[in-house]
Amino acid sequence: MNILINETRIEKRLDEMAKQIDKDYEGKEIILVGILKGSVVFMVELAKRLKTKVQFEFIEVSSYEGTESTGKIKIKKDLQSDIEGKDVLIVEDIIDTGNTLSYLKEYFQEKNPNSLKIATLLSKPSRRIKELEVEYIGFKIEDKFVIGYGLDYNQKYRNLPYIGYIEDGDEI
Ligand code: IMP
Ligand code: MG
Repeated sequence: MNILINETRIEKRLDEMAKQIDKDYEGKEIILVGILKGSVVFMVELAKRLKTKVQFEFIEVSSYEGTESTGKIKIKKDLQSDIEGKDVLIVEDIIDTGNTLSYLKEYFQEKNPNSLKIATLLSKPSRRIKELEVEYIGFKIEDKFVIGYGLDYNQKYRNLPYIGYIEDGDEI
């Protein structure tokens, strides 16, 4: 498998992100809202490093089939608790076109949280269609299809402990 970011680099970056988040949310509690299923590994590893009190929430949406975004977002599983007045941090595996998160940000904003920010493990800035403010970015990467650390290719490879990538012609 082609390795883009190895486990040591990821762990070091997660330590830094957690420190920054603890600093920014001092004296507060955070509702971490993970976007299923890709965010799960990142969310757990980030949460383990946080000193701030957190709650876990999840939402599941669909937008992707194979390696292409369809642009149409559907909520498949909604939040189970009220986020009104709460400090919400959306946790995502990767921001690609920005379609998913610009839709979700608006959806959560309508519920009147006290604050709403985004933490993503990866971002592909060159692919962005929707303008989107992202407060915490693990790594900016070029336009490659990546897998591992929660990210899948047709639901597989989420459990790889590093970020790998797939190129045309790779047999996987
Ligand atoms: P966006 O709506 O185009 O920003 O896409 C966001 C979603 O697409 C992410 O939550 C991922 O599930 C998926 N995605 C985008 N790029 C990749 C990739 O390189 N590998 C795996 N999933 C990806
Ligand atoms: Mg996803």
